[in-house]
Amino acid sequence: VPRVKLGSQGLEVSKLGFGCMGLTGVYNTPVSDEDGISILRDAFNKGITFFDTAVYTDPILMKFWWERHVSLPVVYQALKQLPREKIQLATKFGVFKMEFPHMIVKGTPEYVRSCCEASLKRLGVDYIDLYYQHRVDTSVPIEETMSELKKLVEEGKIKHIGLSEASPDTIRRAHAVHPITAVQMEWSLWTRDIEEEIIPLCRDLGIGIVPYSPLGRGFFAGKAIMESLPANSSLVGHPRFRAENLDKNRRIYSRLENLTKKYQCSPSQLALAWVLQQGDDVVPIPGTTKIKNLDENLGSLKVKLTEEELKEIAAAVPIEEVFKFQLFSLTSIPPDDQKIIGGDD
Ligand code: ATR
Repeated sequence: VPRVKLGSQGLEVSKLGFGCMGLTGVYNTPVSDEDGISILRDAFNKGITFFDTAVYTDPILMKFWWERHVSLPVVYQALKQLPREKIQLATKFGVFKMEFPHMIVKGTPEYVRSCCEASLKRLGVDYIDLYYQHRVDTSVPIEETMSELKKLVEEGKIKHIGLSEASPDTIRRAHAVHPITAVQMEWSLWTRDIEEEIIPLCRDLGIGIVPYSPLGRGFFAGKAIMESLPANSSLVGHPRFRAENLDKNRRIYSRLENLTKKYQCSPSQLALAWVLQQGDDVVPIPGTTKIKNLDENLGSLKVKLTEEELKEIAAAVPIEEVFKFQLFSLTSIPPDDQKIIGGDD
C-alpha cells in the first residue's frame, strides 16, 4: 500500500485507511472480538496502518455504546498486538450524547482535555496520532477549542489535529490557531457536497482529506441491491436505503456495474478507486468485517483511472437522482448541563 503525507505537519499514513465503525455491528451482525482483531491485524499485515475510530453514535446502537461508554474493545486489543510506532491511530471527541435525531455536541476546553485523557486510557496508548473534533460545537468559539488542542500537541498527548464535518469558516479559523492536518467528511460517488468549497480550501491550506463512507456505507459494494440488509442493520432506517429509494438506487448501481467490464474490476473497486484517485492528499477509510472484502478494497489501489475515466464514472451516478437528507441535527449543551463524560472512542 503506498504511503502518503497527510497535511503539512509530517503525518505519513497508508493511502488506504481503515474505518472501525463497522466492527461495532452498526451495519452488520456484530463480529466477535476475535474476528475483529484478526481483520485489523490482517489489514496491518497487508500494509494498512491508518486506523480511524470513535464512539459510534448510531441511533439504534447508541444506547448500548453510551451505557457502556467504553472504547471499541477490539481496537484496544488489536493495538496491543501491533507495533504502536507503525500505526497511525485517529480518534475523536466532541459528541457528548445522542438523542436522535439530535447529536449533542460539546467543545469546551475542559471537555476536550477530559476526552483526550479518557481516550488515552481506554485505548491504552500514550499518544493519539490524529485527534479530531467529531462535530463542531458552535456555542464555543473554535479558537477556544483549538487552543486546548494545541496545548495537547505541545504536551505530546496528541500528534496532529483534525476536524470532522466542519464548515469552511471553522476550518479557516481553526487552522489559524494551529495547522489542521486533516478534515474528515463523507465523500463518495453519491455524496459530493464537499467538492465545491471544502476541497479547494483544504488544498489551499495544505490540509489532508479523509473521506468516510467512501463506499456509500456499502451501497457501491452492492448492499441492499445484491444482498439484503440484515434486519438489525441501522441502514434499514437510513433514507438512502429505504424501499422508496431503492428503484432509483438500483439504476445507479447497475450503471456502475456496466462500467466494470471496461475497467475489469468490481463496482466497489471502481467506487473506491474513484475516491482514492481524487488526489494524493485524499485518504479514504472504508470499513469491513470480512477479509475477503478487505482484499477487494486493497485491490482498488491497482485500478488506475485517467481524468476522462474519473468523469465517466462520476457520470454513472447522477447526483440529482440521489436522495438528499440530513440524519442528525447538532445541539450544543446548555451551559447548566456540563457534566463531563469524556471521549468519543
Ligand atoms: P463507513 O465509512 O460508513 O463504514 P463504507 O466504508 O462506505 O462506510 O462502507 C462500509 C460497508 O461496506 C460495510 O457494511 C461493509 O460490510 P462488510 O462488513 O460486510 O464488508 C461494506 N463493504 C466494505 N467493503 C466491501 C466490499 N469489498 N464488498 C462488499 N461490502 C463491502
